Amino acid sequence: MSGPVAATLRPMTAVHVPDVMALEDILFGAERWTLAMLREELDLVDSRYYVVAVVDEQIVGYAGLAAFDDEAFVQTIGVHPDFQGAGIGAALLDDLLAEADRRGAATVLLEVRTDNEIARRLYDRRGFRPLRVRRGYYRRSGADALEMQRG
Ligand SMILES: CC(C)(COP(=O)(O)OP(=O)(O)OC[C@H]1O[C@@H](n2cnc3c(N)ncnc32)[C@H](O)[C@@H]1OP(=O)(O)O)[C@@H](O)C(=O)NCCC(=O)NCCS
Repeated sequence: MSGPVAATLRPMTAVHVPDVMALEDILFGAERWTLAMLREELDLVDSRYYVVAVVDEQIVGYAGLAAFDDEAFVQTIGVHPDFQGAGIGAALLDDLLAEADRRGAATVLLEVRTDNEIARRLYDRRGFRPLRVRRGYYRRSGADALEMQRG
C-alpha cells in the first residue's frame, strides 16, 4: 500500500475473533496462534489489552499487550499484507505503548524473529533495543527470536 491509511483502533472483542484468526493464518503460518490461545488471551481482561485496526469496516490489523505491574509484553501485532506499509502497524504499536505507559509499565519487552527485518525496524524506531537472541525459540519452524526491550 502506498501512502498512509487512517485506521480506526477499537478494543478487540469475541466478535472480532474469526477475522483475527483469518489474519493470523495469513500472517504467521506455522507459528500462528490457535483459537484457544486467542480466546484465553481475551479472557484475561485485567492483564491484557487487545485492539483491532479497522478500515471501511474491515479488520486489517490487530495487536495485543500483556501488562504486569512495571513490565509489559507485546504479545502480537499484525497487519493484512494489502495494508502493510501504510502506517497501521506503527499506529497499533503506538497504541499499545501508550497503554503500557498508562498502566505504569516502565519496561516493555517483545520477541521478534531475527529474520523479520520490517518488524525489527519498526521496533527500533520506537526505541526498542536488542537484549538477547533465543535460539530455536519458535518451536514449529526452529527460527531464532530476538528479545527486545524498551525502557
Ligand atoms: C510488522 C508489521 C506489523 C508492520 O505493520 P505495517 O502496517 O506494515 O507497518 P508500518 O506501515 O507502520 O511501517 C512500519 C515500518 O516498516 C516499513 N515497512 C512496512 N512494510 C514494508 C515493506 N513491505 N517493505 C519494506 N518496509 C516496510 C515502513 O516503511 C516503516 O518503516 P519506517 O518506520 O522506517 O518508516 C507488518 O509488516 C506485519 O503484519 N508483518 C507480518 C506479521 C509480523 O511479522 N508481525 C510482527 C511479529 S513480531
